[in-house]
Amino acid sequence: MIALRSEMEIRSIREACRIAADVLDRVCALVAPGITTYDLDQAAKRFMADLGAESACYNYKVGARRFPAFTCLSVNEEVVHGIGTLRRVLRPGDIIAVDIAVRYKGWIGDNARTVALLPIAPEVQLLLDTTQDALRAGIAEARLGRRVGDIAHAIQSLVEARGMSVVREFVGHGVGRTMHEPPQVPNFGKPNTLEKLKTGMCIAIEPMVNLGKADIEYADDHWTAITRDRRPSAHFEHTVHITPQGPEILTIPPVRVATRPEPARPEPVEGVEGSAVTPALHA
Ligand code: MF3
Ligand code: CO
Repeated sequence: MIALRSEMEIRSIREACRIAADVLDRVCALVAPGITTYDLDQAAKRFMADLGAESACYNYKVGARRFPAFTCLSVNEEVVHGIGTLRRVLRPGDIIAVDIAVRYKGWIGDNARTVALLPIAPEVQLLLDTTQDALRAGIAEARLGRRVGDIAHAIQSLVEARGMSVVREFVGHGVGRTMHEPPQVPNFGKPNTLEKLKTGMCIAIEPMVNLGKADIEYADDHWTAITRDRRPSAHFEHTVHITPQGPEILTIPPVRVATRPEPARPEPVEGVEGSAVTPALHA
């Protein structure tokens, strides 16, 4: 059974999603050479606490195991579910997928983004662009009259047209009081298949795209998925609400105006006859 959320429930999910997006923004802003993925995970834990939320990943149960980190941080050939560690120091040329799922007042918000430490190889930039474009193409299908398979097909066809591949082992999902609810939202499939999209559904759409082949395996920690060919992988995710007006992206962060001290104004130029010329101020 796929939940159709009331306007009241949507308000709650919207709040959780906004917080998830805010935390994602804040963590991505910290990504820089020299920081470890452990630092990023700890920072995310603090941001969540500051905003009154908690990690939906920490202690997440799969079989007999519980996820040990507060976020998923997946570097380069890591696809998803990477665990922050002091041993992973970020360097120029790396890409890192930051996946933030929070619980706020009992509701989930889930989103992810892959960011780069410049400079990166042109093909890696293409991977990031393609994965983000694939998410956008999937979201464009998240509307009444379409089915889950239309989202899946839009993502797969965009990615494969660019010579890259979609990961099959992990899927997007419904979002509500728990992180993984029906329906499953694969990143590959056929048009006009799977569940019909209806008003009030909230789904996380999350293409995972490999620059090389689709195959994955697991790292020694048994959580981190990595590409079999060790080529890089990217991941973008939004939680989306289906409405009669079209897809509503719920994981949009609040807008903030940066507050920086005013730059010092240069002194007017002296000694220029009859002029009050001031050197040009650059924006
Ligand atoms: N956003 C991820 C997902 O949708 C969160 C996974 S948390 C984990 O699968 F605990 F399962 F790793
Ligand atoms: Co998700």
